[in-house]
Order: sequence, then structure tokens, then C-alpha cells
Amino acid sequence: MRVSVIGCGYLGAVHAAAMASIGHEVVGIDVDQRKIDALSKGEAPFFEPGLPEILTEGTQSGRLSFTTDISAAAGAAVHFIGVGTPQQAGGYAADLTYVNAAIDSLLPHLREGDIVAGKSTVPVGTAAELATRVSETGATLVWNPEFLREGWAVQDTIDPDRLVAGVPEGPDGERAADILREVYAPAVAKGTPFIVTDYATAELVKVSANAFLATKISFINAMAEIAEATGADVTELADAIGYDARIGRKFLGSGIGFGGGCLPKDIRAFAARAEELGRGESIKFLHEMDAINMRRRDRAVELVVNGLGGSVFGKKVAVLGAAFKPHSDDVRDSPALDVAVRLNGLGANVVVTDPQAIDNARRLHPQLTYVADRDETLRDADAVVLVTEWDEYRREMAPEHVSTLTHGRVVVDGRNGLDAAAWRAAGWSYYGMGRP
Ligand code: UGA
Repeated sequence: MRVSVIGCGYLGAVHAAAMASIGHEVVGIDVDQRKIDALSKGEAPFFEPGLPEILTEGTQSGRLSFTTDISAAAGAAVHFIGVGTPQQAGGYAADLTYVNAAIDSLLPHLREGDIVAGKSTVPVGTAAELATRVSETGATLVWNPEFLREGWAVQDTIDPDRLVAGVPEGPDGERAADILREVYAPAVAKGTPFIVTDYATAELVKVSANAFLATKISFINAMAEIAEATGADVTELADAIGYDARIGRKFLGSGIGFGGGCLPKDIRAFAARAEELGRGESIKFLHEMDAINMRRRDRAVELVVNGLGGSVFGKKVAVLGAAFKPHSDDVRDSPALDVAVRLNGLGANVVVTDPQAIDNARRLHPQLTYVADRDETLRDADAVVLVTEWDEYRREMAPEHVSTLTHGRVVVDGRNGLDAAAWRAAGWSYYGMGRP
């Protein structure tokens, strides 16, 4: 099938390459010439495991191309919209500028019978509005939300947990759903659940899934706060409640909480949309989830300050991690980087390392010092702070080895990823998040 993908960021670039890898003929379109140049050479403009391989394979086979010229979308049977919907400046609602611009630029190139498949995360009600404009060209709009996780994006796109298609009522909707089934034929053939529903439900599936995940993380972090007041250990608590299959251990990872380009802005945009709908009360708890989440960053800073005897001023603090989570170079709303910036603001000499995210972090926060080598980062540090649980820091960093490099023996485990007993046995003052 001929497919176009408009927007080649974390979502669109992976989607374009994944669609080519399952056999479609794909053109990826973006306004950013630098991104297009890199992608055309088979280079991923960001770190995503498995992406360079399928990009190279796709571009070399001739099935995958990239351009800034929107007219290249003409002739494709399905047009995916994968542009960003960031948080509005000065507000919590989603900024739909890029979605509207993508649709406007695509409209003149649509033909009767084309499918426009929206993948961007949008406030509920957006698809219905866009559908009117799209249908004037004889094309049909489908809302097909994306559930990929950064770091596992290729696998999640090719082999998702489920596929959702929000379609209009009637034969056009049925036909559109059939075409999407064809697009995702390998996953459908494997028996992947394919849910055909209305626009509003499809849009809500996406935001409610992210709201649920954010709530799960904030729930365990709220328990961490209670654990701190009682001497309990939140990691053991999470293991114990996680054995209950109804609860499950996934997304009960306590620590400095969630960040990234999705969960924080999505729960805020959802709350803003609910207010507009007169249903603010129904998801008011999301404000609380947001607040718990942000408090955990304060707590990590407090642990470092207390660990260093009440002040970090003039102390060297080695910060391990800058990405919002491991297996990613994404620093958008990264809790890790936020902790580093706050410590820097308190007068610490903060040195940050990360296996992938240093360039992005430096662009955002040039005031911090960045060092690529982990051991160089640790050298002469008064305190060590783990904020992104890369294996390099969590599994492959023996406390005895770190002791040979640092000046102090204070370690703050912002992701509860270290073996507290091993660090204490090596002479360290270990501080976890919600652990005694
Ligand atoms: C999230 C969702 O998991 C995806 O399903 C969704 O498609 C995506 O947003 C999106 O809307 O595009 P992602 O942002 O890649 O994916 O990252 P997650 O793996 O969900 O992690 C989000 C944040 O939560 C990270 O900062 C991570 O460190 C934190 N987290 C995660 C925890 O603090 N504890 C956990 O147990 C799990």
C-alpha cells in the first residue's frame, strides 16, 4: 500500500520506518529539513533502539523516502498524521497548531477514497472537527491513536498490544476500518485486538491510558511519602502488592516520578479539556497525581541537601542520567534533568552524565557541566545522585569501584534502582525514595 506519514518526530519517523518494514511504500514528510536530510540517509535523528536498522533497510530497498514537500503525499491511500501536540504556552491545554497545519497542507492533495489516519494525541472532540474538513475532499478521517513507548517504539509499532480505529458511522467508516486492517495486516493476522469505535472513544482511549499509567506511578510515589513517615520500604510494598494480578507490578516503579513528552502534558491537556466539557470534577484527581509527581523531584533534592549536611553549596554532585527514562535521549520534561538544574540553582557544582542524552540536555540547560564518561563524572564527587536508571548505573556500577573515585560517600537513589544493602556495606550513606 502507498502510505504517507506527516510529521517525522519520535512518533512519525518510527511509524514511517515501521510501515516500510512491513512492506508498504512510504513517504515521510516533515517541515524540518535537517530531520529529513538525516532520515533520507537512513540516520535516526534521535536515539531509538532498532530504528537505524529499519531506516536503512527501508531507504535502501526504495520503499521508504523522506521529503519536506507535502505534495509527495498525493497518491498515497493512507495518510498518517503524527505531528506533535505540545502543552500550550501559558496554559495546560494542548496546542493543536501543528495538527491543523498538517491537515491544511494535506487537504489539496487528498483524493476521493483516501484515508487520513490521525495518530497525534489530541483533546477529545478534535477528530470530529477535523473530519468535516477532510470529508469535503471525499477522503475519510480515522482516529488511530498510538501507544508506543520510547525505547521500545519499533517493537510497539510493528507488534502493538492493540489497535484502535475511531471511525465515522456508516459505510465510509466501515471501509476505512477495513483499509486500516490491511495497513496493519501482520499484527491483525497475529490476532492483535483491533477495536473499531467512534472518534471520541478512540481519542479517549489514548488519553485515559496515559492518565491511568500516570496515576499508577503517582500512587506508588504517594505510598513512598507515607513510607517516609513510617519507616516502611516502598519497593518491598510495590513487590508485595504487585503479586496481586489485579494490581500488577508494572508501572509501580517509585522514585522521582514521570516526565517526558507524553504523560505530563497529556494529563494536563486532559484535565483542561474536561474543564471545557464541564466535567473538571471527574478527573480532578489528575491535578493531585501531577502534584505528587512534582513533589518527588523536591524530595530528591532535599535528600541530597540533607545527605550533604544541610547545604550543597560548593559541593560537587555527580548526577547519573539526564534522559527522562533509560533507552531514550529524550529530555523533554525530564525529572532527571530537573533535579540536576535545581541542585545547580542551590550552588552545587553539578556534573551530569548520560549514555545518550548529553547533547539534548546541553541544548536545553547549557549552564550545567556535562561529561560523557561515567567514572570521570564520579571523580571527586561529594555526592552521587542516580536519576535515570540506565543499566550502566543501576547494574554495572559496583559501590566498591565508585568509592575509589569519589570524595564523599553519599548516594541518593532517585529511581530506587540500587542495592541499598551493598552500598551500605561498602561504607556509603544510601538514601532511597520512600525507603528507610
Ligand atoms: C508513554 C506511555 O507509556 C505510552 O504507552 C504512550 O504511547 C506514550 O507515553 C505516548 O503517549 O506517546 P513514554 O513517554 O515513552 O510512554 O514513557 P513511559 O515508559 O510511559 O515512562 C514515562 C515516565 O514515567 C518516565 O519518566 C519513567 O521514568 C516514569 N516511570 C515509568 C516511573 O517513574 N515509574 C514506572 O514504574 C514507570
